Amino acid sequence: MTNKQLKELLDSLTLKEKIGQMFQALPQIFGEDGAITGIFDENIEVDDVISTVGSILNMYDTERMRKLQAQHLESSKIPLLFMNDIIHGFNTVFPISPALAATFNPELIKKTARISAKESAALGINVTFSPMVDISRDARWGRVCEGYGEDTYLSSICSKAMIEGYQGDSLESDDTIAACVKHFALYGAPYDGRDYNNVDMSERMMRNDYLPPYKAAVDANVAMIMTAFNNINGTPATINHHTNVDILRDEWGFDGVSITDYGSAKMCYNAGVVENHTETAQLLIENKVDIDMMGGIYGMKYLGKAVESGAVSIEQIDECVMRILELKNKLGLFENPYKYFRGSESIPESERKNHREVARKSVSESSTLVKNENELLPIAKDKKVAFIGPFVASNDLTTHWAQIHDKREIGLYINEAVNSFTDLKGEYSYSIGCPYLSDDEELLEKPESPCENDVQQYEKQAIENAKNADTVVMLMGEPHQLFGESGSRTEITIPEIQMELLRKISKVNENIVVILFNGRPLVLSELSKLAKSIIVSWYPGSQGYLGICDMLFGYTSPSGRLPFSFPRKNGQVPLFYSNIATGHDHEEGQFNKFTLRYIDTPNTPLYPFGYGLSYTEFKYSNPSISSSTLKRGESISVSVDIENIGKRDGYETAQLYIRDVKAKLVARPLKQLKGFEKVFLKSGEKKTVTFEITEEMLKFYDKDCNFVAENGEFIIYVGAHSMDNRNSVKFELI
Ligand code: GLC
Repeated sequence: MTNKQLKELLDSLTLKEKIGQMFQALPQIFGEDGAITGIFDENIEVDDVISTVGSILNMYDTERMRKLQAQHLESSKIPLLFMNDIIHGFNTVFPISPALAATFNPELIKKTARISAKESAALGINVTFSPMVDISRDARWGRVCEGYGEDTYLSSICSKAMIEGYQGDSLESDDTIAACVKHFALYGAPYDGRDYNNVDMSERMMRNDYLPPYKAAVDANVAMIMTAFNNINGTPATINHHTNVDILRDEWGFDGVSITDYGSAKMCYNAGVVENHTETAQLLIENKVDIDMMGGIYGMKYLGKAVESGAVSIEQIDECVMRILELKNKLGLFENPYKYFRGSESIPESERKNHREVARKSVSESSTLVKNENELLPIAKDKKVAFIGPFVASNDLTTHWAQIHDKREIGLYINEAVNSFTDLKGEYSYSIGCPYLSDDEELLEKPESPCENDVQQYEKQAIENAKNADTVVMLMGEPHQLFGESGSRTEITIPEIQMELLRKISKVNENIVVILFNGRPLVLSELSKLAKSIIVSWYPGSQGYLGICDMLFGYTSPSGRLPFSFPRKNGQVPLFYSNIATGHDHEEGQFNKFTLRYIDTPNTPLYPFGYGLSYTEFKYSNPSISSSTLKRGESISVSVDIENIGKRDGYETAQLYIRDVKAKLVARPLKQLKGFEKVFLKSGEKKTVTFEITEEMLKFYDKDCNFVAENGEFIIYVGAHSMDNRNSVKFELI
C-alpha cells in the first residue's frame, strides 16, 4: 500500500479499531495454544478482541495461525502480526547469545540470525523479540544468558549483526522477519543483581556504557523496540519520557514501533508512580509506546477513557497506529496476509542440512578453552575416555527460550555423537555420576533428576569408569533452571553435588577435561585446580555434542573468547574489565595497603574478558603506530604481527583496547575494547593485523554529557585479551 492508502485506511477506522491495533494478545485469549511468558491475567480487559486485536505473541502452529488470521479478517481490514521470542535459533538452535558473542565473528552471528529468520518466517512468524542487548556486569542476574556480554563495543557489533541477519535486505521478502531490540533500557543493571529490580545510573554512565547497543540497533534500522520492566532512576522504563522520547525518538530519530514488555504497562500502578491505569494509558501515549503486550491498558476501558476525557488526542492515537500499519505494510501483509504461512516443511532438507552445519561450526567458534595443561586436549582417537556427569543424560543443550515450543531439533546424546565418528577407535564409557542438583535445593523449577533411586550407585559406577580411563571428560554445569528470566542467584557456582563428584573423580584420575554448560560467568576457582582442561561451552544448541566431539578429538579447535570476566569469588561481582580509574588504583603484584583492592582476593578475574586459548600457540610482536599524533578528522593506524608458533592451525582474535589517559574532570576507563579481528593462521604462518584509529573512536560523553574527543594522550593495547598489556603504543590527539 502507498502511504496515502495507509492514511485513508487509518482515517476509516473507528476509535475501538484503532485502539485494538495497539493491543497484543496471547493466543490463549482466543482459545489457542502458545507459550505463556508472563503472568496470564485471565480477567484482562479485552474488547471484542478477535475483530480488533493488532498482534498475537508466541503462537507456534502454522495452520492455527492461518485460521486465526482468516477468522480475524472476516471482521477486520487489517491483518494480524505474529510476534515470537526467537532468541538463539528456531528449528535449528544455535549457541546462546553470550556464546555467539564469544565467537567474535559478526559474519557467523549474522548467519545464525539469517537462518533463524528463514525458519521462523516459514512457520508464520513476522517479528522476533530479539536481539536482547542489555549490557550486564553482574553475573548474579539471571538474564546475562540472553545478552552479548559485559562490553559495550562487542554488544553493539552483535546487535547490528543480529538485526541485519533477521531483517535481511528487505522486510518485503518472505524469508525475513522484523527484529525487536530489547529491553529498553538498562535492564541488565539492577542494583543488586535481582531481575526486575531498580536501576539507578548517571546520565553519563548510561550514555557511555549501556545505551550504545540499542543505538546500534536503531542505526541498523531495527523495526521495533521493547521497553524494559525495570525503573530507570525511579521511573518505569515503560513510561520514562527521557529514554523513550528525548533519546529514542528525538535524539536518535527512531520511527519504528515501540512495544511494552509483557504486562509492564499494568505494572506501573504496582510501582506506585501513577494514580490509576487511565493515567498509565495517557503516559504510554505520551511516551510514544505503540503496543501494549498483554497489559490491558490499551483498551476502551483505560485508553478509551483517556481519549474521552481529552487527556489523549486522536492525533496521538493515530501517530501510534500509523507506525503499526507501516510495519504491517513493510512486511507485505496487506497484499498477502498469508504469505508467511508456508510451514516449516517448506524448507528443503538440503537447506536444513546446511543450517545444522552452521550450528555445528558455531559450537567450536563459541566455546572457549580457558585451560589446557600438558595439552590434554585434543584427545587421541584411540584413548579410553570416561564421559561423566549429569549432562550425559541430556540430549537437549538448548535453554528455556528454545524449549517454549516443540519445533526445535533435539540433538544427540553424547554417546550417539561419539558413535557418529567412524574413525574413533578408543573405548568410551558413559556415566551420569550424580543429579544436576541436590534434593534440598529450594527452586521453583527444578530439572528432572537423571538418577533414579540410589544415587550412590551412579557415583560408584562413575568412579569405576574413571579408574579405567586414560582421560575423563566431565559434562557438568548449570541446569538451565538456574538462569534466565527471574533466575538470579546469590552464588554463581556450579551446584555443589556436581563439585563433590568432581572431587571424588579427581582422586582416581588426574586427567580431567571439563566441558562446562553455563548461562552466566561462574566461579571456577576450585574447578580450575581439579581439571587439567576446561572448555566453557555455555549452552551450545541442537548440534551441541557433535560440535563438542569435534573439539574433543581435534577435528576443530575451540576459538571462543570470553564475553564476560569470570570472577574468582562471588564477592567480586559486579565485575568487568573496563573499570574507571580512581586515585587509589592498584597495580597487580604491588603490595600497598592504601589502594583499591579487597584484602582477601586479587582484583583480577580468574579468566578475563576476551580470554581464550587454542590448540596451538600465537606470538604477538612488532607493535607499531603510523604516527604519534592524530590530527582531528584524520586517522592513524596501529599494527602488530601475529605468528602461529604451534603445531596446529587455528584462529586467534586480536583485540584493540584504548585508554584515554586524561579527561577534564571525569575519570575514564582503564581500557575499552575498540576493535578486534579474528584471523586464521596455519602452523608457522605470520600475519600483520592493522587497526585504523579515528577521532570518532575516542569520543565519549564528557562531564556535561557532550559527545566529544578531548585532546591529549591515549594508550593503545593490541593483544590476546583485556589483561594483555604486552604490546602497547601511545599517541596524542591534537
Ligand atoms: C518476557 C520477557 C521478554 C519477552 C516477552 C514476550 O517477559 O521479558 O524478553 O520477549 O516477555 O515473551
